[in-house]
Amino acid sequence: MAYERSVSADSHRLAPESVWHLQMPEIRFGRDATEELGYQLRDLGVGTDARGLVVTDETLVDLGHADRVEASISEAGLAVDVYDGSQREPSVQDAADCIEFVRDRAGEDGYDFYVGLGGGSCIDTAKVTRAVVANGGRPLDYVAEPTGAGEPIERSGPPLVLMPTTAGTGAEISPVAILSVEEQNIKEGISSNHVRADAAILDPTLTTTLPPDLTAKTAMDALGHAIEGYTTHEYDSLLRAEDPAERPVYAGRTPLTEMFSEKAIDLLSSNVRTAVHNGDDLEARENMLQGALFGAIAGLTAGASLCHAMAYPVGNRYHTSHGETIAVLTPASTIDYNSGSDPARFADVAELFGVDTTGLTNREAADALKAEYVQLQRDLNVLPSGLHELAGVTEDDVDWLARQTVETQERLLRCNPRPVTEEDVRDVFLDALHNWED
Ligand SMILES: [Fe+2]
Repeated sequence: MAYERSVSADSHRLAPESVWHLQMPEIRFGRDATEELGYQLRDLGVGTDARGLVVTDETLVDLGHADRVEASISEAGLAVDVYDGSQREPSVQDAADCIEFVRDRAGEDGYDFYVGLGGGSCIDTAKVTRAVVANGGRPLDYVAEPTGAGEPIERSGPPLVLMPTTAGTGAEISPVAILSVEEQNIKEGISSNHVRADAAILDPTLTTTLPPDLTAKTAMDALGHAIEGYTTHEYDSLLRAEDPAERPVYAGRTPLTEMFSEKAIDLLSSNVRTAVHNGDDLEARENMLQGALFGAIAGLTAGASLCHAMAYPVGNRYHTSHGETIAVLTPASTIDYNSGSDPARFADVAELFGVDTTGLTNREAADALKAEYVQLQRDLNVLPSGLHELAGVTEDDVDWLARQTVETQERLLRCNPRPVTEEDVRDVFLDALHNWED
C-alpha cells in the first residue's frame, strides 16, 4: 500500500501528495426543485418509453412526498413504480427485499432508472438496489471480506437520482451505502464510485415535515461532517499514491473542502435552533439543507475522524441512530481530544460557530467552542446528555467500546489529526458518558 501517514513514515521515503480530486453527482438545489426531477432524468438520457422505480418508505408516501415525485416523473412522459418498504438503518435483508421486488416486477435487468427519496436509509437502499441489480448476485457479494465476498462493483447501472428529506447524512452525494449485518451485529459499507448517484436533487420543501428530534439528530451528523472535515489532516500530509486509482476516498482537507466546511459550520450552527423549534420555517430549512450539503462535500471528501470511528461500535451494540451518536460523542472526541492537535484551527471553528473569541487564547477558544456546542444541544431539547442517557452506557462498557473502535475502525483512526491509542479512546468514551447533568 503506497499510503502511510507521513508522521509514521521514514522521512527519506516521503513523496508528499500533490494532487486532490473531487467527484460529485450533478446537483440541483432549491425550493420546488422536485418539479425538475422529470427533466433531470431525461437529461441523464432516460428515454420516453422508460419505466423507473422510486425507493422510499411508508411515511413519505403518507406525507404526499412520493406523490409529488411520481407526478414530476409522469409529467416527463415516464412510467414509474413505487417501493415503500425501506426500513430505518437498513439491513442486508432489507436491501435484498427491495432487490427481489425489482427482479419480480422488472426482470433480472431491472428498471430503466431509480430514484431514492427519503433519509439516509431510503437513499442507501436505493443505492444498493441499483448496484446489485446492475452487477448481479446479492448485497453480501459486494461487502468487504470477511463479512462479505468483497467482489468489485464493475458498473454503475442505469441513472440514479437521490432526493434527501433530511438535512444531514450526505448520502445523496457519497460513494458509500451502509447496511447492518444482523447476524454479526455490525454495520458494513458498500463503497465504490459506481455506487454514487448520477444526480442529487435537494428541495427544502421536502424537509419541513421532518419532526424536531430527527431534525436535531441529522443536523448534528451534518455538523460533525463539517467540523471533522475542517480539522482533519491536510491532503498533502500523506504520501502520493503511485496509481491515482489508489487515492483514498477520504483524502484529507483541501482548499476546496475548507471553504465548504466554513460555510457549513456557519449555516448549520445559526439555523438549527429555528429548524428544530419551528419546522415550518422554510428559510431555516433551506439553510440547513444547504449547510448539510456543504458539510457533506467537505467532510465526505476530506474524511471523518475519531468521532465517526467511535460512533460505529456504539451504533452496532446499542442500535442508536447515527446522528444522535455523533451528537453525544463530538464534545469529547472532535473538540476536546482533537483540539490538542491544532488549537488555532479550533479557535477558527469557534468563531464560525458564533463564539466571541475576543481576548481568548486559542486553547480558551477551543474550550469555549465545546461549551457552546453543548449549550446548543441542550437548547434543542431533544438530544441525550451523553452516552449514558443515550443507551445506558456505563464505565464498565468503555473497555469493550474502546477495543472495538481500535480493532475495527483503523481506516478512520489512522487519519485522525491527533494520534490515538486504545487508552485514549477509552478516556474519550468516559468523558462522553455525561456531557451535562442528566
Ligand atoms: Fe456521519
